[in-house]
Amino acid sequence: MPHNRSPEELHHFIKKLEQQALETAEERHPLYIRAGLKDAHMVLDVGCGSGAVTKDVAAHTNGTVVALDDALDLIDTAREILTGLENVVLMAGDAHHLPFRDETFDIALCNLVLMWSEHPQQVVSEMARVVRPGGRVVASLEPDFGGKIHWPENEQVDPIFAGEAIRRRGGDPHIGRKLRMLFVRAGLDAEVGIGNQRIWSCAEDRASYTRSRDFYWDVLRRAGLSDREIRTWEQEYLTSLDQGIQVNFFPQFYAIGTKRGGQG
Ligand SMILES: C[S@@+](CC[C@H](N)C(=O)[O-])C[C@H]1O[C@@H](n2cnc3c(N)ncnc32)[C@H](O)[C@@H]1O
Repeated sequence: MPHNRSPEELHHFIKKLEQQALETAEERHPLYIRAGLKDAHMVLDVGCGSGAVTKDVAAHTNGTVVALDDALDLIDTAREILTGLENVVLMAGDAHHLPFRDETFDIALCNLVLMWSEHPQQVVSEMARVVRPGGRVVASLEPDFGGKIHWPENEQVDPIFAGEAIRRRGGDPHIGRKLRMLFVRAGLDAEVGIGNQRIWSCAEDRASYTRSRDFYWDVLRRAGLSDREIRTWEQEYLTSLDQGIQVNFFPQFYAIGTKRGGQG
């Protein structure tokens, strides 16, 4: 759905996508290679956002990347960020009704889009429709907050970050575990896995928290915690990071689907 973001919200969102793209490169790049991106002629990036991930996709292929999003402010941003990349074409469009003929692409991929889609099954089925037989549909990162492993525990805050916060913002915190179903029901032969194996160091967690502190506070305030409660939680959280004992992991699922009927 197109968004009405203030310039400040847009700025923060773009920065967040840029950071996410950096932090997830080690998980996404092997998938691009496995899916055969290099030799694809026509690639579709569904829900391209600001183009932070599209830039990587374009760098991994000799083909043309069509990048589509339904948010016009993000398409404008992507146009700036991707300036100079000759193999990228940007388009506005809805992932639920992809404006392409059947079998147009060798590969259709998306990153962190199904989680926010109103009807993820329709999006995957549309991606399957527009790839050729033997072509691939790739969901490179879709989290599953229900699988979060966190230590030391905090009874009040953990459930909020284990799904409630995402649900409140209209996302599906358990989309990761549903990927196999979505791909199989779209008629694809699906390989599903978890892309992130490494657990971040406490220094990485601290840097991430510092960058997104306002976001964390906002989520916790919306969940009904008082500033005093948040401060107490924050102090415990930062102390455990300083002690180097914090573990914070949530699985990022991926799926590579192959459309039947081709030669691979
Ligand atoms: C979390 S962002 C991810 C952006 C980008 N793929 C990345 O990883 O940097 C999700 C993106 O999906 C887009 N999106 C969500 N639903 C969509 C739909 N139905 N059609 C097209 N784009 C959609 C949003 O506008 C947003 O840009």
